[in-house]
Amino acid sequence: MSTQRSVSELRQDFKILDQEINGKPLIYFDSAASTQKPEQVVEAMRAYYYNDNANVHRGAHTLGDRATSGFEGARDKVVHFLNAASRKEIIWTKGTTEAMNLVANGLAPRLNKGDEIIVSRMEHHANIVPWQMLAERIGAVVKVLDVSENGDILVEQLDTLITAKTKILACTHVSNVLGTIIPIKEIVARAKANNVITVIDGAQATPHFKVDVQALDCDFYAFSAHKIFGPTGIGVLYGKEALLEEMPPYQGGGEMIERVSFEGTTFNQLPYKFEAGTPPISQAVGVGAALDYLNSADRKAMEAHEQALLTQAIELSKGIPGMRLIGESSNKVAVMSFLIEGLHPSDIGTLLDQQGIGIRTGHHCAMPLMEYLGVPGTARASFAFYNTAEEVERLFEALAKIQRMFT
Ligand code: ALA
Repeated sequence: MSTQRSVSELRQDFKILDQEINGKPLIYFDSAASTQKPEQVVEAMRAYYYNDNANVHRGAHTLGDRATSGFEGARDKVVHFLNAASRKEIIWTKGTTEAMNLVANGLAPRLNKGDEIIVSRMEHHANIVPWQMLAERIGAVVKVLDVSENGDILVEQLDTLITAKTKILACTHVSNVLGTIIPIKEIVARAKANNVITVIDGAQATPHFKVDVQALDCDFYAFSAHKIFGPTGIGVLYGKEALLEEMPPYQGGGEMIERVSFEGTTFNQLPYKFEAGTPPISQAVGVGAALDYLNSADRKAMEAHEQALLTQAIELSKGIPGMRLIGESSNKVAVMSFLIEGLHPSDIGTLLDQQGIGIRTGHHCAMPLMEYLGVPGTARASFAFYNTAEEVERLFEALAKIQRMFT
């Protein structure tokens, strides 16, 4: 018999949620920016520092061995989490942003002047700017895959957008602003049919549903640990082994070398070729604990709970005069961007904070999408499995009050 804990029981692992802000019980609706950490993650990192701390891959001593096995053991957990084919395909990075920069740098030798890179209009800056920098360096061209009014990707546009010169397609799996779940498998298939390399930003997908990189058949996939209930400062780049093999190192230093001499340096094997310097060891241990945590829970139940919160929020939004939802795809995660007529998003954020409710406001690092939507920014409430229906109700009571008083 399964002994999986219910979603409401899991909330008890997040002690931070049990506090008051401005005299009101905290409601944390900013998990798309960063999730809270269960005590199992914090405890694993504490135990690492109290019992096992040392550098990895170096020491001829017990602590070095323990640190190495915690660090490498976490990599194996990521292999399982993404269903990668091999641990050589899992590179530790600082996060999704560094992963994208690493890939953009590594793919540079494949590009020639005039080649094309496609990115979608709903990308986070982390999946736009590295490609612009690469394009600038090579003389390549960045082309844009459009978004429909309700916030879906116009997949069919790829029929005309992809040409013989297209080398790379970079796309998010889930929009951080709109919550839309992008049909990545279909997009990858279209790219593959034209020998286009695919780079997928999984930062907003991995917190919400199971991802299988072999089933998606993408070439690269990245995520950040702090958005999947793990620590800040670490993330993962998955890459197909053959492509990682051919890519030049991203940074030089310790760990990534095989042999160094002034006549020339040779590089370490995968995945270490891309991990220069002492890596984020305690953070990797934290990632391992976060993945254990997710594995021990019923992810389908978590997903269903989040979807129920989203449905409730969409329904309640109809009762707030002048409230407009931004991003109404029928296939989305529990992220709700919105505007209220007569109120600036940043004022909504401040007024909600006074009632103990934390949301994000602004352009969400997606300025091109904001420009397309014709808005300077939005207010965004993002839900995780540890949120409750009562919290969603309180958000809307607060919004109703704000709307009455300030418009
Ligand atoms: N990319 C993060 C967000 O969407 C920070 O909030």
